[in-house]
Amino acid sequence: VNAPVPINVGLLGLGTVGGGVAQALAAKQKAIAAHVGCPIRVTHVLVRDALRERRVAGGAVITSDPDEILDDPDVRIVVEVMGGETPALDYVQRAIHAGKHVVTANKELMAKHGPEILANAAEHHVSVQFEGSVGGGIPIIGPLVRDLLANDITAVNAIINGTTNFMLTSMAGGDLDYASALRRAQELGYAEADPANDVDGIDAAYKLAILASLAFRTRVHADDVYREGIGRLTSADFRYAEELGYVIKLLAIGRRNGSTAQVRVHPALVPAEHPLAKVDGVLNAVELEGDLVGWAMFQGPGAGSDPTASAVVGDILEIARALAGGGCFPVPPALDGDVTLLPMADIETQYYLRLRAADRPGVMAQVAQVLGDRQVSLASVIQKEPPRSDGSAEIVITTHTAREAAVQEAVHAIEGLESVIEVSNLIRIEDGAR
Ligand SMILES: NC(=O)c1ccc[n+]([C@@H]2O[C@H](COP(=O)([O-])OP(=O)(O)OC[C@H]3O[C@@H](n4cnc5c(N)ncnc54)[C@H](OP(=O)(O)O)[C@@H]3O)[C@@H](O)[C@H]2O)c1
Repeated sequence: VNAPVPINVGLLGLGTVGGGVAQALAAKQKAIAAHVGCPIRVTHVLVRDALRERRVAGGAVITSDPDEILDDPDVRIVVEVMGGETPALDYVQRAIHAGKHVVTANKELMAKHGPEILANAAEHHVSVQFEGSVGGGIPIIGPLVRDLLANDITAVNAIINGTTNFMLTSMAGGDLDYASALRRAQELGYAEADPANDVDGIDAAYKLAILASLAFRTRVHADDVYREGIGRLTSADFRYAEELGYVIKLLAIGRRNGSTAQVRVHPALVPAEHPLAKVDGVLNAVELEGDLVGWAMFQGPGAGSDPTASAVVGDILEIARALAGGGCFPVPPALDGDVTLLPMADIETQYYLRLRAADRPGVMAQVAQVLGDRQVSLASVIQKEPPRSDGSAEIVITTHTAREAAVQEAVHAIEGLESVIEVSNLIRIEDGAR
């Protein structure tokens, strides 16, 4: 009997994720061969610096020349775990063009070029899988493109950036300020030396673009996502949030209402009893609402070598099983839905407003008047006594549901009041439809 022919894999990148993938494929090779019906073999690994000594099990060729992988007809699956837009996009498109199946964990690539990559894959009858691109080890792309396909999905609420969730968890209770929380995240290796991608919400926006595209079956580009980072949050906001019965999370929110949708990433007050409020540290979670399933929540490790390898290797196995004749190639849904994205000015939610004003009678009435004139009604007011040493008082207001444009206008007008020193923060409150 002839031994089954192995399926050859070319790995683009051997960093945190690539290293985990190579290791998992090697450590589990027996079980994988039994599951797929033939062995999976990493034949080539692309890195920037091919001279640096590295250990890869199984004798893969280490190269810095992408052509060795992309032009090799024996490589059936290309696994892109390099990151970035360039040259990853070019390599992925070349692989597809050459009839190779692709697995990627690259959120930036999929958030900016997903539709064109998937269209190219459809044209060339190959599969592109990207479970690792959102939520690390949490299965969420698979459910969206397969298990939940019968649903019309109307809502997505997600905590999909572990770095900021770790920082916000550290700041909860008001003990640690922003700078100390960032330093702690950096010391523990959760935050990069340049943390902008995480703290400005860029990474979460990439992931939301991918989730919303699949959930709402339309094309949502990274640039379509409204984005605010966590840099304006102070210890005071965390103390007031707690007092009001909320925690602060960086939420990625998608909503669909018929033919309109909204996609936004910003800090949000979440009720303390809401399941997302309990997702702490570097954990990630995605909850969504479908018309058939109702609310469903997925939670787990959102990053790291092994968890992300879990997702990437799962994708490799699905393709390998199809190649070996024991499965079918997963196809993402068409992203051709007729959905218009709402501008941020048109969204409606509740708001938390913290401001500093002169400690004089009548100030609160003036502020309430400005809000009321714009149909923004107050839900609660906290005014701290005694006043601060400079004679100013801190006022925290929460509103009922209001239109973003009206609230922004009101904030502008409040800032112009003679008795108001500053509007210190405006945070949206997401009570959730659950
Ligand atoms: N880290 C995580 O927990 C995680 C989780 C989910 C998704 N992801 C995504 O997975 C991807 C990889 O992340 P990572 O953390 O593993 O990155 P990483 O540790 O920086 O590794 C990147 C690897 O790609 C190679 N590489 C980068 N640019 C290259 C180029 N132009 N030509 C050849 N090789 C190149 C590097 O080579 P050298 O070794 O020679 O530098 C390195 O081996 C990214 O898209 C990331 O967003 C990461």
